[in-house]
Amino acid sequence: MTGDVEFDRIAPVYDETRRPPSAEEVRALVEMLGGCPTVLDAGVGTGRFAIPLQAHGFRVFGVDLSFGMMRLARAKGLSHLVRADLRHLPFTDRSVDAAFMAHVLQLIPEPREALAELGRVARRRVVVQLPEWFERPPSEAWRERRNRYREIAAELGYSLPERGKRYWHSIEELSEIATPRDVRVVLRPPPAGPATDERYSRWASEMIGGGRIPPEVHEEIVRRLRKEFPQDLAAFARPRRTRFVLWDASQLVPKTEKLSGLPSSRRPGGGA
Ligand SMILES: C[S@@+](CC[C@H](N)C(=O)[O-])C[C@H]1O[C@@H](n2cnc3c(N)ncnc32)[C@H](O)[C@@H]1O
Repeated sequence: MTGDVEFDRIAPVYDETRRPPSAEEVRALVEMLGGCPTVLDAGVGTGRFAIPLQAHGFRVFGVDLSFGMMRLARAKGLSHLVRADLRHLPFTDRSVDAAFMAHVLQLIPEPREALAELGRVARRRVVVQLPEWFERPPSEAWRERRNRYREIAAELGYSLPERGKRYWHSIEELSEIATPRDVRVVLRPPPAGPATDERYSRWASEMIGGGRIPPEVHEEIVRRLRKEFPQDLAAFARPRRTRFVLWDASQLVPKTEKLSGLPSSRRPGGGA
């Protein structure tokens, strides 16, 4: 099961740990959703993509497991929010023009099931944002430091909660489910400064901002990590390529469902 508790915990600092979508990303998405006035954002989170879409005139419905994340989306101006699992959407068949999902697939073990559900509720299109770093497991160097961070934290008396499981789905794997009608690639410039600094600063937001560790403990852990792992590893840097993958909704719905349809009793309910 994906981690609603994990995202409730991280919600207050989530926006600090992710850059907002770039103008190019928003442009690509807006073009791909052209002609689809109603859009369901599955795993809407704090509305990072939903808010710019709404600003471009789309009527956006957000679904998420985490009330904490959706509370922030609501505060930013999204009003159609529903707490639900995106694999069992409380929407009738073909009830929105398009379904969209960003930064969520890495939390879903079986993408076929999730894509079929998005295909069921969408009349026209399904678009998935797929950052390249979610297509393959993190490097050993990254994993080693992350594990060491936990060990040192435990030595200092702070045992960190387990991070939810992650799954990597490549564009090839998704293409085997159904051949995308369109794929747009957006490149982002790397942030200035060493890759390791960027990573440690993200950890600071997650650990200190998420209330897991006091600032002085985080600083002590990072001081030790810098000593134990002095090099700045290129492998530590996150790839900067994001793909937007588009299917016709009908491509994703299994044939049996197309014939029988699903109960039309599932309606949106229970706001954030
Ligand atoms: C990494 S965040 C991405 C949020 C937003 N789409 C963005 O790009 O910033 C993943 C979000 O997906 C939600 N989520 C994870 N699994 C889910 C599921 N099965 N159904 C609905 N939401 C889910 C989490 O609660 C979280 O808000």
